[in-house]
Amino acid sequence: MERTFLMVKPDAVRRGLIGSIIARFEAKGFKMVAGKLMQISDELVKKHYYEHEGRPYYQDLTTFMTSGPVFAMVWEGEDVIKLSRFMMGSTDPEKAAPGTIRGDYATRMNRNVIHGSDSPENAEREIHLFFDEREFVINK
Ligand code: CDP
Ligand code: MG
Repeated sequence: MERTFLMVKPDAVRRGLIGSIIARFEAKGFKMVAGKLMQISDELVKKHYYEHEGRPYYQDLTTFMTSGPVFAMVWEGEDVIKLSRFMMGSTDPEKAAPGTIRGDYATRMNRNVIHGSDSPENAEREIHLFFDEREFVINK
């Protein structure tokens, strides 16, 4: 069964959207196997977004991501990496279709509510950046 890393970003935690966002993945049929409210450190945000270092938006992105708590999660399901990215919508909320998370809850690229892994390699890497093996539940 495939796993992905999803994270409710600080803008959405502040706005009280954790529950609404989780409800969408539950309704789709995916299972949360780990989840926690946490504050990201400077060190962790650099590791998580290492591919974006040097981009014009990098400073804003790292400051924003450490500005308040996030809700970090691991979800399991068939094709969960690709399907959760569809459910999130385009990175730019102006291009995200209504019905997607970003399409429904966001207006700006730099405050776009949710992160989701974009490939099996990144899912594996991000899951282990944020979680220890003993934080996972065993689904019977
Ligand atoms: O989050 P996603 O994988 O859809 O997009 P990304 O291209 O991997 O970019 C990571 C994050 O950087 C985005 O979700 C935005 O929060 C931020 N970003 C931005 O603020 N401005 C951009 N031009 C591109 C990305
Ligand atoms: Mg990305």
